[in-house]
Amino acid sequence: MRKAIYPGSFDPVTFGHQDIIERSAALFDELIVGVLNNSAKNSLFSVGERVSMLKELTKVIPNVTVDSFDGLLVDYMKESGATIIVRGLRAVTDFEYELQMAQTNHVEYPKAETIFLTTNMKYSYLSSSVVREFAAFGGDISKFVPSQFIDRIYAKYDIKK
Ligand code: PNS
Repeated sequence: MRKAIYPGSFDPVTFGHQDIIERSAALFDELIVGVLNNSAKNSLFSVGERVSMLKELTKVIPNVTVDSFDGLLVDYMKESGATIIVRGLRAVTDFEYELQMAQTNHVEYPKAETIFLTTNMKYSYLSSSVVREFAAFGGDISKFVPSQFIDRIYAKYDIKK
């Protein structure tokens, strides 16, 4: 039984995340989308809002569950039984940080293996921070995020479209 976790901030979820979720759900028996509950980070959406958006997005994929976690990823993995970490790699600039995280997690929890999926080229420029930046100035975010979330994102900036 291959249980994987795709951890992240998902603030907000983008088409790039959705693509990684769909592709990794096809590779593993179970996939947990793990939303980091990071109180130190000033996030746009609360962890509850992020979890519920991800649940809406993944409700049609039977082997995907969505959960939040506090603290260390490896501790949550021990608790949940996940041994594989999925991360998306957009460009070489992601690599240094991702390599360090993968190696550290493996040292701390040797059962944890990180698998990198290369981001679909059409989303290689995309990140949650790009979405936040465009939305904050009323820019078009329809190519960045699933349509059902657009109004919720603008609403965070008091923008009505
Ligand atoms: O979407 P992000 O912000 O790039 O995701 C980063 C995330 C959540 C995967 C990473 O920050 C994380 O795992 N945080 C939990 C705390 C932890 O385990 N830190 C040690 C990493 S070496």
